[in-house]
Amino acid sequence: MNNRELYQKWFIDRQFERADLFLALVKKYKIKSVLYPGSFIHITPSFFIPRAYYVDSDQKAKRFFAKEDEVNELILKNKKYEEAPKITFFGQDYFKLLDIKEGSIDLLVSQYAGPISQACKKYLKKSGHLLVNNSHADAGIAALDADYKLVGVIKLLNTKEVISENKLDDYFHPKKNLKPSIDYLMKQGKGIGYTKTAMSYVFEKCH
Ligand SMILES: C[S@@+](CC[C@H](N)C(=O)[O-])C[C@H]1O[C@@H](n2cnc3c(N)ncnc32)[C@H](O)[C@@H]1O
Repeated sequence: MNNRELYQKWFIDRQFERADLFLALVKKYKIKSVLYPGSFIHITPSFFIPRAYYVDSDQKAKRFFAKEDEVNELILKNKKYEEAPKITFFGQDYFKLLDIKEGSIDLLVSQYAGPISQACKKYLKKSGHLLVNNSHADAGIAALDADYKLVGVIKLLNTKEVISENKLDDYFHPKKNLKPSIDYLMKQGKGIGYTKTAMSYVFEKCH
């Protein structure tokens, strides 16, 4: 399969492209660069954000990004901005040092791939944004981290992802009488139940 067919199979056919999500983010916040650790071959952010860094240690992801012409063709066909897109792929563990300037990234993405809010926080600029879901507990971890402040939640409105800023204090209250620490959630590697949840969350880096 070529890269276009792979992208079709993994994201379009499964209706899991999340294009509206990235569109909503770039409309609301000033985002020109994105770091996506554990991206697999999910290059949708590059359709909306000119400078993107993808990180994944998976062999399929390495093969996908090695076909640079096909990756560029896909992005050029779908991009919604004027600038020329620029992407860098690191075929490595995201816990290891990445060749990215600390404090330089506008958006850090954490989707189904582990505790990225902690492992890659240093690359995010102050006032930059973290998009995170609670797979592997990462949203719960960010909620306990004083370096992050919850500024929005992602909801579906008529099948489109939208950012809501309503009643943010209602989120991240454990269902059971639990007081998990960041260390506990990182060790568990899976989220606990909360009384109110969203598909994904947006945090701002405040320090
Ligand atoms: C379930 S997939 C999610 C893919 C993508 N984030 C999405 O939402 O469509 C998880 C990906 O994270 C990658 N991953 C997990 N831990 C990693 C690590 N420490 N370093 C690099 N990649 C990692 C895996 O190789 C896999 O491709």
